[in-house]
Amino acid sequence: MSNYEGRWNTVRVEVDEGIGWAILNRPEKRNAMSPTLNREMCGVLEALELDDAVKVLVLTGAGESWTAGMDLKEYFREIDQAPEIVQERIRRDASMWQWKLLRMYAKPTIAMVNGWCFGGGFSPLVACDLAIASETAVFGLSEINWGIPPGNLVSKALADTVGHRKALEFIMTGDTFTGRQAEEMGLVNRAVPLEQLREETVALARKLAAKNPVILRAAKHGFKRCRELTWEQSEDYLYAKLDQSQLRDPEHGREKGLKQFLDEKSIKPGLQSYRR
Ligand code: COA
Repeated sequence: MSNYEGRWNTVRVEVDEGIGWAILNRPEKRNAMSPTLNREMCGVLEALELDDAVKVLVLTGAGESWTAGMDLKEYFREIDQAPEIVQERIRRDASMWQWKLLRMYAKPTIAMVNGWCFGGGFSPLVACDLAIASETAVFGLSEINWGIPPGNLVSKALADTVGHRKALEFIMTGDTFTGRQAEEMGLVNRAVPLEQLREETVALARKLAAKNPVILRAAKHGFKRCRELTWEQSEDYLYAKLDQSQLRDPEHGREKGLKQFLDEKSIKPGLQSYRR
């Protein structure tokens, strides 16, 4: 088992049975995302991506928060007077892990939303492939309440997941909503009672971990990229992705799957996975 104990100050990392747990760990500050946390999360994601023991990444928060969003003190007030180039660097670290690395991560990712989820937290929330929330988690686009429009990729993340009317309602009012409502809006895959959250997340992670990882990556990258392409571009891209995945797949899943269905008649791909 990989040991990351003590490697980062603001993020706790545990690896257990194929799941890499990245736990935002500033519970006393509601896991607000400070420049230090943002920088450390870049390192966490890079390390877990290369760790063979990690098949699936789960992003969650320590204590009663997922994250209260960007750190209003350390990310905003304290860097207001910093040199422009430093501000640029601090913003880049935030974007780097919150969506650039996470959105196209090489391994499947699940956001396990255990509590408060505000503002900047929406970027990593939507950048994760899937999300499960506690029914009682509280979400909010609070920016309007303290004098800024949603920053970074928060609005883009909402536009990608939530309908026009609901997204604008929450952006413009700053009203909070629950995990249950987040499920109804399509912002998370499902909401479950808090006491079942970990169990449900582990079950989903295990299901993903059992799939062919190269094909899983091609499937999720293909879907995410083609959201922004035309139909013609998507056809080219998705076929290229499919061909690439055949070249890259060391376990030759396509051949195995076809053989098991067509020759051995031992599986029904509509109902179960091929035997790896
Ligand atoms: N940035 C910096 N510090 C934050 C923070 C944030 N986004 N959210 C919470 N904290 C800090 C508080 O300042 C407080 O610090 P202190 O103990 O040094 O005074 C500590 O975390 C606890 O916060 P508190 O407000 O007392 O906790 P709560 O459980 O009563 O309320 C929230 C939790 C999340 C509802 C509330 O903290 C909040 O509204 N936070 C801001 C959320 C926000 O607007 N985020 C968007 C940023 S883009």
